[in-house]
Amino acid sequence: MAKITMVGAGNVGATAVQHIAQRELCEELVLIDVIEGLPQGKALDMWESAPLFGSDTHVRGSNRMADMEDSDLVLITAGLARKPGMSRSDLLDKNAEIMRSIVQNVVKYASDAIIMVVTNPLDVMTYLAWRVSGFGKERIIGMAGVLDSARLRSFVAMELGVSVKETQALVLGGHGDSMVPLPQYTTVAGIPITQLMDAVTIENLVARTRKAGGEIVELLRAGSAYYSPGASLAEMVEAVMKNKKQILPCAAILSGEYGLSDMCAGVPVVLGRWGIEKIVEISLASSELEALRKSAEEVRKDISRLNLP
Ligand code: 2OP
Repeated sequence: MAKITMVGAGNVGATAVQHIAQRELCEELVLIDVIEGLPQGKALDMWESAPLFGSDTHVRGSNRMADMEDSDLVLITAGLARKPGMSRSDLLDKNAEIMRSIVQNVVKYASDAIIMVVTNPLDVMTYLAWRVSGFGKERIIGMAGVLDSARLRSFVAMELGVSVKETQALVLGGHGDSMVPLPQYTTVAGIPITQLMDAVTIENLVARTRKAGGEIVELLRAGSAYYSPGASLAEMVEAVMKNKKQILPCAAILSGEYGLSDMCAGVPVVLGRWGIEKIVEISLASSELEALRKSAEEVRKDISRLNLP
């Protein structure tokens, strides 16, 4: 019987859980949070909606970390979200403390689980989860590239006035303003956007994608995006639970790929039942490779603030 636990009943966690339940990706789905009543209330509300979409995934809420016991997958969204004017790195110290404690509980109660991290600063938190857990790197996956790519896909569709369905995009690197959207791998019905738009328009869409999380933070004024992050995480969960071998851009622990080692950044991976089954190395122009390494350097700076042994 497959079991998934979400730690963090905020907006991103709850949105992802609702998608996972609707798609019946497991039998048992536990929503954990430290705030009393919050996970129980949200989970009960979701379970009461299950008859309306015909899902038998049982969602329940809890304040006890022990309730993640024997989960196949543990998803972590817990942590502070950005406020206007804050970068994702500004959240580092506080969220690192929260992440350490959650991952220690995963080791204790669900030592065979795959961990998916969403908490910001994403790449640093994913790296921390790897180091604290001691798990194999294939079992530690960060959510960001799917989100950043979905944002670029939506902007491309809007710009060209075409369906989002046929758009594909690839955004690599750290989940920060230095992320690396790749126009040569961004297509509509297989046609690279470099053949559909001029260079200035592409540059504008690339710039908007880099700042897309901040654009939502500025609009909401309290809190950050959650519909698209929640849906992006559910896409990754589906790839794992259905063993789809789907190629998705995810934050992965790197050991030499793209010339980067002992580090975490967004790269294309094959996601299946065992987690990251392969890191795909694609050919990049020298300027793109340089941008990827620069973005990784930003992540490395933040990793050094963790004071890991
Ligand atoms: C975003 O990009 C929350 O980092 C997330 O919206």
